[in-house]
Amino acid sequence: MQTVITKYPLVTVYVHILGILISVSSGDSLNMQSKFSVLSFDANFTVAEQACQALGFDGLAILSTPEEYNYVLRLSADVRQHRGIWLALRFDEVLASPVWDDGTVPAPDMPWKREAIQPCGKLNTAGLLGMLPCDKLKYPACGNRKY
Ligand SMILES: *[C@@H]1O[C@H](CO)[C@@H](O)[C@H](O)[C@H]1NC(C)=O
Repeated sequence: MQTVITKYPLVTVYVHILGILISVSSGDSLNMQSKFSVLSFDANFTVAEQACQALGFDGLAILSTPEEYNYVLRLSADVRQHRGIWLALRFDEVLASPVWDDGTVPAPDMPWKREAIQPCGKLNTAGLLGMLPCDKLKYPACGNRKY
């Protein structure tokens, strides 16, 4: 039994829940949305990292899971048509491997463009990881690490 008065709040709640379900099913969970952002200006690696930190992010983005990779891939689709995005990925001389800023190595199933050993990591226009000199200009992909 419902009155006209209570109908409208119920419709609002239903639409709100539906909206969240749609955004979750398309991959844009609230967690992902607050974890990553791609900035729309190009900068070298150092300035890109500083810009992320100035905006309150921990630094550049770490992509630890297929979900995070796919989310940032879609989030950066427009800007990656022009040039790649910087990630929190650096070449570690001791490990002789690219390493994320949290100390983990990229998952073995991450897609790579093989390039010369270089200090700074990016996601290129095709969505492949690669290493290159840190003075190149790319768009910053920012990330938060602890949730
Ligand atoms: C990045 O750009 C800043 C500002 O132009 C400059 O001071 C710095 O040396 C550059 N760093 C790299 C690694 O290119």
